[in-house]
Amino acid sequence: QVPRIYVTRQIPPDGMKILHQSRLCHIEQWDSEDPVPRSELLKKVAGIQGLYCLLTEKIDAEVLDAAGPSLKVVSTMSVGYDHISLQELKKRGIRLGYTPDVLTEAVAELTVALLLAASRRLLEAAEKAKTGGWGTWKPLWMCGHGLTDSTVGILGLGRIGVAVATRLKPFGVKRFLYTDMSARPEVATSIPADSVTVDELARLSDFIVVCCALTPETQGICNKSLFSQMKDTAIFVNTSRGGVVNQDDLYQALVNGQIAAAGLDVTEPEPLPTDHPLFKLKNCVVLPHIASATVSTRNAMAALAANNLLAGLRGEAMEKEVPL
Ligand code: GLV
Ligand code: GLV
Repeated sequence: QVPRIYVTRQIPPDGMKILHQSRLCHIEQWDSEDPVPRSELLKKVAGIQGLYCLLTEKIDAEVLDAAGPSLKVVSTMSVGYDHISLQELKKRGIRLGYTPDVLTEAVAELTVALLLAASRRLLEAAEKAKTGGWGTWKPLWMCGHGLTDSTVGILGLGRIGVAVATRLKPFGVKRFLYTDMSARPEVATSIPADSVTVDELARLSDFIVVCCALTPETQGICNKSLFSQMKDTAIFVNTSRGGVVNQDDLYQALVNGQIAAAGLDVTEPEPLPTDHPLFKLKNCVVLPHIASATVSTRNAMAALAANNLLAGLRGEAMEKEVPL
């Protein structure tokens, strides 16, 4: 009997091509650009062997129970897997594929773009130019903070953190610092970056860039304590997950001038409601979770997730599997 898989969205063409050409499985798909409604997901997973999902689907006991014992593989088209309950997968012997590496460059590139947008006030300035706020050239107007001779602190020195540092280096950064749940001496030496505590990171950095995964340990670690120790000229950038940040604390820090500006590609929740106070701030740039959004990267993610799923269905080693 041909295994059945469910794909929870329209995905980039390279991913679909691989699934179709394999002739290994019967494919059902939520054929839309928007997420599958939860009730539909719960119905459609019944009796499937493989689930191809995105970070918008919460994969928990309810979904896995709805799928039943036939489900062998979950493959997410994302590097983050905080939307998936690893414990529930493990309990049922279900394997999990994900898409690290292929998006590292795209995410690092956008992180740099967002950092510069926030620090050099790009959106605020462009808005002024467009709406009649550009009186004349003024020496003291629209001044921000540059990277030259700065100290950059990276929270989470994994693949993406390293790629961000590599890209920032040519801007004349004087010193890199990092805080990580585990010591990373080899990669740290290659930048080089000095290992510091979160408090030191807050106190010493001109830029803090959050590149860690969302885990119980990192949930809300960017909070009042961190922001209150940061320089009032410092810029805060997050391209990991919104849950790493206490958003109310960040809002207060931005309003009270405890820090200079923030750039966020991720928020809690997503989408962030349009009437959210963060949108009212001139010194906060909010992007709609687009860090990996280049055509080639999204295709590579879709293809990797497809190959992971097929390998799982065949009972073979996946190219990128989360150890459970
Ligand atoms: C994007 O946020 C991802 O996890 O791939
Ligand atoms: C800026 O445009 C300058 O000429 O200094």
